[in-house]
Amino acid sequence: MLKPPEEHATVYSGGDSLFPLEVSGLAFSDRGRNLVDNVSLTLDGRSRTVILGPNGAGKSLLMRLLHGLLQPTAGTILWGGRPLDAAVRARQAMVFQRPTLLRRSAEENLRFVLGHLPRTARDARITELLADAKLTDIRTMPARLLSGGEQQRLAIARARAADPDVLFLDEPSASLDPASTHAIEELIRAIHAEGTKIILVTHDLGQARRLADDVVFVSRGRIMEHQPAADFFLNQRSDAARAYIEGRLDIGTVDQS
Ligand SMILES: Nc1ncnc2c1ncn2[C@@H]1O[C@H](COP(=O)(O)OP(=O)(O)OP(=O)(O)O)[C@@H](O)[C@H]1O
Ligand SMILES: [Mg+2]
Repeated sequence: MLKPPEEHATVYSGGDSLFPLEVSGLAFSDRGRNLVDNVSLTLDGRSRTVILGPNGAGKSLLMRLLHGLLQPTAGTILWGGRPLDAAVRARQAMVFQRPTLLRRSAEENLRFVLGHLPRTARDARITELLADAKLTDIRTMPARLLSGGEQQRLAIARARAADPDVLFLDEPSASLDPASTHAIEELIRAIHAEGTKIILVTHDLGQARRLADDVVFVSRGRIMEHQPAADFFLNQRSDAARAYIEGRLDIGTVDQS
């Protein structure tokens, strides 16, 4: 792929694109609780979409459903008109809040994903990915000995190595210091510039303002609003989003059932 965003945009309505992503009537319930509740949403392939919402709102669940890690109770998910099958999944990558890395060195974690490339091209790409993730000096370190921030950057570099059409990121810089957070945001920008759709969950409102093109606000399993980021930060339409932005506890998020 590796196209600049403008070019990627021209692929938008094309036959092979994963976009638009069209979600309709999506639900996931467990033990009588509607954890994702009648969610409908359309996302294009160009923007960086940030999902905001209080703890327990269903943000991670929604991403897992969109990525096919969970089966919905009801509703449909269409990626560029296609159902979420193995071929679609192969073009997606996800980075979890607590990344799972191979018990090998940092560079071996990347080599593993790039096994299909000829050796010279693979080595060149590994060097590039490590440099962008600021991991060059620790390339031979066992991944499990890396710090939290380094592990997170390695997990993102590994997801990038697969050259996905869409990258899901679930709180990628939670508990990281400002410099590590900045490094991760730079990485996300670089991946987006390669034409990859970004879908990011964060509680860091500064990060949301810096990265978001559009904001999806989730509360109690429902999408309360989906707006361009500039509009959302200027004026939240829902009480739940206003309460969240103002740092007030939204009493409505407490599960009453
Ligand atoms: N696989 C699952 N099966 C059943 N219930 C689940 C599952 N995963 C999460 N839940 C429940 O669904 C609700 C929403 O969880 P989710 O992890 O999506 O919240 P979240 O919005 O990501 O919150 P946070 O900001 O704290 O990460 C929680 O009450 C959680 O216990
Ligand atoms: Mg979560």
